[in-house]
Amino acid sequence: MGDHLTTHDLLARVEELIGGELEQAELVFLSEVSSKHPYVHDVLQHITRFQGKRLRPILLLLSAAATGGINDSHYVLASAVEMIHLATLVHDDVLDDAIIRRHVATVNSRWNNETSVLVGDFLFTHAFHLTASLGDARACRLIGRATNLVCEGELAQIYERGNLDLSEEQYLQIINGKTAELCAISTQLGAIYADADEKIIQAMDDYGRALGVAFQITDDLLDLLGNEEQMGKSLGSDLQKEKLTLPLIRLLDQSNQDTQAMIQEILSQPDEQTKSRLAQFIKNSDAIEYAGNRAREFAKQAREALKDCPESQARQILEELTEFAIQRSI
Ligand code: IPE
Ligand code: IPE
Ligand code: MG
Ligand code: MG
Repeated sequence: MGDHLTTHDLLARVEELIGGELEQAELVFLSEVSSKHPYVHDVLQHITRFQGKRLRPILLLLSAAATGGINDSHYVLASAVEMIHLATLVHDDVLDDAIIRRHVATVNSRWNNETSVLVGDFLFTHAFHLTASLGDARACRLIGRATNLVCEGELAQIYERGNLDLSEEQYLQIINGKTAELCAISTQLGAIYADADEKIIQAMDDYGRALGVAFQITDDLLDLLGNEEQMGKSLGSDLQKEKLTLPLIRLLDQSNQDTQAMIQEILSQPDEQTKSRLAQFIKNSDAIEYAGNRAREFAKQAREALKDCPESQARQILEELTEFAIQRSI
């Protein structure tokens, strides 16, 4: 699934299998995320004009389809997890001083940080307002807990900024919170609201979590190596913000003391010149390969979690999404 065409093929098959259901979720999303206030309306129009990959709604709906079937509550839930995701992106772009998101200007660059904070809040509260319409506290509690852990993950990442001794284990804990949690809650909710049994619900949780970790390790590789135009978002902010990700953790771990000192100096003052030196260090090491292999291991773990899930087209696509998570260039 390395090239654009196969990603395109996979997305086309997602569309074929659950395109109508994704559209239903999208309608719920758009009717909730609206405002009569002209300023709020403008900002909301701006951030909803371009959809992202819709990974979390896709995960939720495919999990439902694979474990018992999609029903009306899944549209609400799929829309709510995308809302939470979008809220975290709007806030994350403030933290990262990002300029571009989903091929357009970020809210912070087009407007200002204050607007981003409040629009993010608007999206968070709408997600819970919407989920409460199910009349079932369970979904609200689960999404609430997952969102708390996402925020904790982002906070832990801020706390660890500039910590050049960050271990792989600490890194994995951070991305487990900030990214994997929301993927896991998506797949879990798909199964819970499809009336799947406990064992399957747990399996879907395991799948979503491992997939989310693989997805974020890949995102961190793309932050170093990806193409901004293709990805449609600002890259390089992990280095700029002194956030250590897996390739750098590996590079530091494998370097002798002198090299470590040089890398640490670069990391504490990244500019164009020092960054090209860093790129050279990375190129001469196994850092990229190592991080890619770790991502591959998590993708495999995700696939294995599906073993008790009955054979279906939805399950097949869930399996293929684990490849997409690590091979993607978008
Ligand atoms: C970006 O998520 C943030 C990460 C968790 C890496 P996506 O890559 O799913 O963003 P969109 O929704 O497609 O824009
Ligand atoms: C993911 O982190 C953000 C959240 C999960 C909230 P990143 O900072 O790596 O995401 P991008 O690269 O900006 O999309
Ligand atoms: Mg970011
Ligand atoms: Mg990133």
